[in-house]
Amino acid sequence: MNKATGIATPFVDLASPHMELEDELVSAFRQALRESSFIGGAAVEDFESRFAAFCGTRFSAGVANGTDALRLALVASGVKPGDTVVTVANTFVATVEAISQAGALAAFVDIDEATYNMDPGELNRYLETGCDNRGGRPVDKRTGSPVTAVVPVHLYGQPALMDAISEIAARHGLRVIEDACQAHGAEYLSGKEGGWVKAGSMGAAAAFSFYPGKNLGACGDAGAVTTNDPEIAEHVKMARDHGQSRKYIHEVEGCNSRLDAIQAMVLGIKLKRLSDWNEMRREAASVYNGLLDGSDKLTTPAEHPDARHVYHLYVVRVRGREVVQKRLSDAGVATGLHYPVPLHLQRACSRFGYSKGDLPITELVADEILSLPMYPGLRPTDQERIAGVILGQETSGIADRLP
Ligand SMILES: Cc1ncc(COP(=O)(O)O)c(C=O)c1O
Repeated sequence: MNKATGIATPFVDLASPHMELEDELVSAFRQALRESSFIGGAAVEDFESRFAAFCGTRFSAGVANGTDALRLALVASGVKPGDTVVTVANTFVATVEAISQAGALAAFVDIDEATYNMDPGELNRYLETGCDNRGGRPVDKRTGSPVTAVVPVHLYGQPALMDAISEIAARHGLRVIEDACQAHGAEYLSGKEGGWVKAGSMGAAAAFSFYPGKNLGACGDAGAVTTNDPEIAEHVKMARDHGQSRKYIHEVEGCNSRLDAIQAMVLGIKLKRLSDWNEMRREAASVYNGLLDGSDKLTTPAEHPDARHVYHLYVVRVRGREVVQKRLSDAGVATGLHYPVPLHLQRACSRFGYSKGDLPITELVADEILSLPMYPGLRPTDQERIAGVILGQETSGIADRLP
């Protein structure tokens, strides 16, 4: 039984990290109350500069959530109403909401079966065969809309193959905006950048979500845009605050998507622990791999040699998923599906004109993926029990297979 949650094995444990940091968090909240510092100010600026330093970018701009971060990053990067933005359908719906709310159309390309991330070959194929080349610029053959940007999603905490994606994008004049909402602190070995670099530092801009369950989560909703481009940073900082450059002077059409000062303080406190927590997730993943690798019943996650996965989610592929999920649920183990219905088959995305069969790998894996409990502090004994239930061995003999 998990003491913090009261569930045998929860899917995530949001309570323990806050208990660990309770004194610091409460005193930050007390300070905010006493100073009445709720919007903007030093707490937000301090977190922004520390988060940019963590990601290895020149700038970061705090916003209200990850969906807004992606929308504002797209608009600030030059995506215009009527453009097409290429992405994947195996992602949270917010990726496409952000594209659509920036006024653009979404085009989907299939994923790589090993990593579940955008397949660069499929991106290339779409641009070469699904588009007409007009003056060196791709125009979607079906819609006649100019393709101006690509959004690779670093899904589950593993960076997409950014060198290949960036090279293809550059060849076709597209901007790359990373959806790093699940990948705080993940790294990618980039030949282009000459070494390991952080997710969120490779595109024109990137979006992060600090939804509470993320590797870096607020105590509520929050998000950020990271970028090396001063104009993009400036545009996002204006747009998030009603387009103001200074009080009542509105340079661009904006919205209210400010990051609360209290959330910025919470994030600043938790940021100090992020690298350790990511390491704990990686250790938990390697315990799972030791227990489950080699079974013909399932496939464990593949970490690409050029990627340092931070296991926001630990996702296996298993045939007969419903049966396995029910067995785990009966044993008090909470699981998730990320994501059971690919976006191109969702009614909300029907206007983009896709149907079943268009993205065969995405559709295949959607029926088999199963997310197991994953959080820093997940105990090997719990993982042993989970593996026993999955493999139908309950607990016997599993301990011997621990790495
Ligand atoms: C891949 C991805 N993109 C975008 C988002 C949107 O973030 P938020 O929920 O903070 O708006 C999420 C959050 O779950 C996500 O996982």
